[in-house]
Amino acid sequence: MSTAARDSDSDSDNDGTDTETPAMSTTHKLSFKLNGKPASVEVEPRELLVHTLRERLALTGPHIGCETSHCGACTVDVDGSSVKSCTLLTVQCEGSDLLTVEGLEQGGALHAIQQAFHEEHGLQCGYCTPGMLTRCYRLLQENPNPSEAEIRYGIAGNLCRCTGYQNIVKAVQSAAKKLAAPEKKAA
Ligand code: FES
Ligand code: FES
Repeated sequence: MSTAARDSDSDSDNDGTDTETPAMSTTHKLSFKLNGKPASVEVEPRELLVHTLRERLALTGPHIGCETSHCGACTVDVDGSSVKSCTLLTVQCEGSDLLTVEGLEQGGALHAIQQAFHEEHGLQCGYCTPGMLTRCYRLLQENPNPSEAEIRYGIAGNLCRCTGYQNIVKAVQSAAKKLAAPEKKAA
């Protein structure tokens, strides 16, 4: 389309006779399970899950890094799958089962994967850690005895700029062993 044609269209759109009413902002009330408990929240249709969790539900574990689905800092668990909450609309979560890093510990006891990150020094600055923990939790649910290659592949969507990943791999291996030993099983 030529510039003249675009200008012409633009003029007709802005000739003062446009009576179109601006779109009304609507909100949606949703209910879901959050870290094992029923929760409800009212959100705008365009709202992303990471913003709802952090700003409306005070769960600041899921971090915002890239907001383009690359870094994994915002990873949470939705209906048994790892999901980057910066790319999911909250309205898509009606009736879902959501788990954030805050829901990993049970009764004040760290989950085995959290304990293993602590013991194996699987973190430094900690920015990636909440997303990494929820991803590693799901990885061990999917594959309780992963090889090193499977761990590295399983966390490929979660970036860590500090650790070089070696201690994260060790932590997942350590947690896998603990979870496989019933008498020592953590929460
Ligand atoms: S903030 Fe969601 S993937 Fe980076
Ligand atoms: S511990 Fe700093 S980004 Fe992973």
